[in-house]
Amino acid sequence: MKCYKYPKCFFIRKLLRMTTLKIPIFRPDSQFIRLWEILIVSITIYNAFIVPFRISFQPNFYGTWILLDLIGDTILIADIFLRFHLGYFKYGEYIEDKKKIAKRYRYQLFRRHLIASFPGDLIARIFLPNLLFIIALLRLPRLLRLPQFFRIFNRWEINVNINPTLIRMCKLIIFIALINHWVGCGWFLIGNLETNFGSGDSWLINKSLESLDTRTQYINSLYWAITTLTTVGYGDITPATEIEIIFTVMVMFSGISMYAYIIGNVSSLISNLDAAQARYREKLDQITTYMRDNKIPPILQHKIRDYYQYRWIENRDIRDYYILDELPYPLKTKLALQLHKEVIKKVPIFQGSSPQFIEEIVMALKPEILPPNEYIIREGNLGNEMYFIKRGLVQVFSEKTGSIYRNMVAGTFFGEIALVYEQPRTASIITLTYCELFVLHKEDFKKVLENYPYFASNVRKIAKERYEGENK
Ligand code: CMP
Repeated sequence: MKCYKYPKCFFIRKLLRMTTLKIPIFRPDSQFIRLWEILIVSITIYNAFIVPFRISFQPNFYGTWILLDLIGDTILIADIFLRFHLGYFKYGEYIEDKKKIAKRYRYQLFRRHLIASFPGDLIARIFLPNLLFIIALLRLPRLLRLPQFFRIFNRWEINVNINPTLIRMCKLIIFIALINHWVGCGWFLIGNLETNFGSGDSWLINKSLESLDTRTQYINSLYWAITTLTTVGYGDITPATEIEIIFTVMVMFSGISMYAYIIGNVSSLISNLDAAQARYREKLDQITTYMRDNKIPPILQHKIRDYYQYRWIENRDIRDYYILDELPYPLKTKLALQLHKEVIKKVPIFQGSSPQFIEEIVMALKPEILPPNEYIIREGNLGNEMYFIKRGLVQVFSEKTGSIYRNMVAGTFFGEIALVYEQPRTASIITLTYCELFVLHKEDFKKVLENYPYFASNVRKIAKERYEGENK
């Protein structure tokens, strides 16, 4: 591979050549990449907290911390290699061409990631082991990875199977924690510089914190950051020099706008957390008020409220199904197949049918939920639809003779006689429990019968048996 961008840079050219090793291309939506992204996000958060802390407080860190740094840095370098083998989607098309992937990465993020991974602190550690401030400062480029943290979170919001509001909330909490931490570190750094190199006056001296342990100093700095950012400002830690006053004013000023933004965000996040539940509650309130205003008998009121509760607990809101009407036909079919797979599995006359038939029938079925002890069909009425039972129990009986023909469970169908023989309903059907049904309207029924003779003959056979059984 030629390196046009960096013709003189031997190191980068070598690195680019190594990136074309025979490694497979990873899909961005694969499990491995998801786990990898979690790792990258964790390292980025770790660096975003640790780097400013080390710059401000200059703690002497050894052992585990150095090991953690090294592990994080190695993973970030490995990420650069991985990104040369990470496919991507462009206008919905999956691109796995190595050259295109490499070109895209080189133009977009490669340089930034390379700078972010530069091991300047390691070099400084070898040559200037005592200059903790310089060592810490040289890790500052790691923060260039921060935008990636937000990008990954934004992707999770859309692609991961977790409530997007929860992911947004998580992102917001990390963001707030980071800002408070950074301001706390900045406040301490200013106090420390003022103490050692300034006028000799500082908030640290006023609070007699200048020679206390790092933990106490950090807690006080963070406390100041939170109280100032939220504009609570108890006034127990106050600026002592001009620079500290300027910093305080800046923090207070940005605190006002930041918290207005955060509070707005949090309230909208909380109300979105379960939008369906909020909608359900609102609907229930509306109906209850409406029924009370119209003096509906309490038993009916109770039944209607019960119905909404069932619909909510079992199905969330079946109206959501109709929102999907705006999808294009192929997507809607796929979705309907997925949503109705339970009923397709349960209904014996659907078994062994062709995929085309299943697709057609699935698109024609409309869900309906009924409470117990309600008529679905009345004997003698005209019939315009037949039903498939997804869940629940119904009873077929004759109102004229009072005889019960049978009870029907999930997987069975009824209401076909009126459609096949073009005549009034031969029996009445009442729900014995809450029932989830699928309705097939007359026009759709006829279309399906015309196109699929095998299904037609099965339905006609069952209709005939039932009809003749009744008229014996
Ligand atoms: P339909 O006549 O349209 O409406 C009432 C339905 O009850 C009828 O279609 C059949 O699906 C069903 N039905 C009628 N008689 C019987 C029976 N003897 N056994 C089972 N189901 C029946």
